[in-house]
Amino acid sequence: MKYNLLKWAGGKAQLLREIVPRLPMSFGTYLEPFLGGGAVFFHLSRSGRIQNALLSDINSDLIAFYTAVRNDPDALSDAIDALKLSNSSQDYYIARRLFNGLTNNDTLRRSALLIYLNHHCYNGLQRYNSRGEFNVPFGKYSNPSMPGREELRQFSGMLRKASLEVSDFSEILTRARKGDFVYLDPPYFPLSKSSSFTAYTKNGFSRADQERLASVCRNMDSRGVKFMLSHSATDPVRELFSGFNIEEIKARRAINSVGTGRSPVSELIITNYNPPWITRT
Ligand SMILES: C[S@@+](CC[C@H](N)C(=O)[O-])C[C@H]1O[C@@H](n2cnc3c(N)ncnc32)[C@H](O)[C@@H]1O
Repeated sequence: MKYNLLKWAGGKAQLLREIVPRLPMSFGTYLEPFLGGGAVFFHLSRSGRIQNALLSDINSDLIAFYTAVRNDPDALSDAIDALKLSNSSQDYYIARRLFNGLTNNDTLRRSALLIYLNHHCYNGLQRYNSRGEFNVPFGKYSNPSMPGREELRQFSGMLRKASLEVSDFSEILTRARKGDFVYLDPPYFPLSKSSSFTAYTKNGFSRADQERLASVCRNMDSRGVKFMLSHSATDPVRELFSGFNIEEIKARRAINSVGTGRSPVSELIITNYNPPWITRT
């Protein structure tokens, strides 16, 4: 079975080896407010550790897609088959034009196009221009593989334990209760030579958003909500989250938008609880 439904820039599949041993042993509701490709949620689901979940992201196309998978995977498979698109640049740009021309009411067709575009576009990026049009170029992969009907059914089964919502992270996290667990994987600060804040990242997550995030985490901590946060290994992040457990780990991943660099980079895992393997020793 494929590990993820979607390719996602900044996805955490390659970091599960570091993340999983640090997850709490048990928790109530699982919340993931920067869902993206959902690598951690799908891992926990496969391991049978999710009783119920609240998953959200600010990207409404993404949440509409997961909702379509959850509610009727066979209808989505039929819609994907009906597209009859091949792995050619011509078909890719036809799909992109169609996707941008459909209204949000045509959810099934848009979701079918989203998964096709995601697996055939450059680097699995989900990028939009200022008019809200998906604008990633063709990926030129020799053998892209999309999840098939049976895989969509399996992902649907996992998503059935989840509520899916389009939301800014701070709104959804007011619903986290004592004993719940939240995994947060926000857009990172860009790695600059000075490691200092920049006003805005390309995807619109500003310095003010990072500060808002830190204050939401402190508030959850005071309410007895456990959280784990992945972030870039930079001084501003260490300062914003000082007082929590901060561990630096090595991540092997594409480090630039060109996707050629795959040397290890440092990331932080920040928790407000002692990870289980620490308490056991
Ligand atoms: C680094 S990605 C998450 C990757 C994910 N953990 C995975 O394994 O694929 C960050 C996500 O945050 C979402 N996002 C950006 N700003 C947001 C906001 N203000 N509130 C909620 N989600 C936001 C983006 O749409 C993107 O999906």
